[in-house]
Amino acid sequence: MASGGTLLFIFTVLCINAVKSGGFIKVECKTKNVGHYGQQSLLECVVKTSTDAPDPTIRAVAWKKLTSPEDEGDLLLGFNRGKWDQPKRGYRFAEPLWDEKNMNVSLLITNTAVADDGYYKCMVITDSGDNSMVTTLKVQARYSVPTVHSIPEKIVPNTNSTLICESHGGYPKGTLHWFDEEGNDWTKSSEMEATQSDDGLFQLTSRLLLFRGATFQNYTCVVFNASGGKEDEIIFEMPAPPRLTPPSGPEPIEICKIVVRLVVIGSLMVGLLCVLLFCRWKAQQVQKCSTEPRTVGHHAVYRPEVNL
Ligand SMILES: *[C@@H]1O[C@H](CO)[C@@H](O)[C@H](O)[C@H]1NC(C)=O
Ligand SMILES: *[C@@H]1O[C@H](CO)[C@@H](O)[C@H](O)[C@H]1NC(C)=O
Repeated sequence: MASGGTLLFIFTVLCINAVKSGGFIKVECKTKNVGHYGQQSLLECVVKTSTDAPDPTIRAVAWKKLTSPEDEGDLLLGFNRGKWDQPKRGYRFAEPLWDEKNMNVSLLITNTAVADDGYYKCMVITDSGDNSMVTTLKVQARYSVPTVHSIPEKIVPNTNSTLICESHGGYPKGTLHWFDEEGNDWTKSSEMEATQSDDGLFQLTSRLLLFRGATFQNYTCVVFNASGGKEDEIIFEMPAPPRLTPPSGPEPIEICKIVVRLVVIGSLMVGLLCVLLFCRWKAQQVQKCSTEPRTVGHHAVYRPEVNL
């Protein structure tokens, strides 16, 4: 009966393994979690019980941050037989009053950083077996409203210039795109650079070279997030182009000025003429007067003529 003994042995080993690897409990996590930079993030995991172990007691929980799904990982938060294992700052159970009977072993990250992006492993040991599961956190940070400036600062018509668009504080790496007012995409004519600051956030800089004679009135710089969602945009107004054809006639305000000048000069001339005429008339009168007696008034002056 050697074969029977072997079978019994295999059966026993399988049973023991089933219990050891958690045949009666299962850790279930939300596989994809999204966290926002600077805010709280929740990695949700619960211990599922079975009818074989309806009321387990948790002996140990370990939350680890992995650099890859297969990695051993760094301990963030550990609980072992009634004691806490020096939890790292900023990591705690989501349940504020967690105890060994609470099957919600979710992890709360109190102030999400870019470094928190990645894989996590939740390991649970109970009196009815143990189990673990790997989950992920995708950290997102929103890009700032872009700004645009030009080089040279004051664009000289008919010379080359460069528009520079900048947006910062985003994660993961996004892109900057350029459009003119007709919606044509100029991104291919631009060069984008992404740099990462110490906190892991990206600073995006895009340069759009405008050759002289570039005739669009404005250019829009749009920042897209890593999944291609539009986050923000800014419109850069180009300085008014120089008048290519000389103006066909004077502008209304010029006409006004000319008219005013003409009226002033005209009335001056008329006035001058009046004065001249008056002087001549006066001179004639004086001449006539000198031929007549000095005591005679105007009536006397005309009388001789009337009498004639
Ligand atoms: C676990 O606890 C957290 C914090 O109280 C809560 O937000 C979450 O919904 C709970 N999850 C489940 C499955 O009960
Ligand atoms: C990108 O933006 C879209 C729309 O606003 C949003 O739904 C998505 O979650 C964002 N993705 C990232 C990676 O920020």
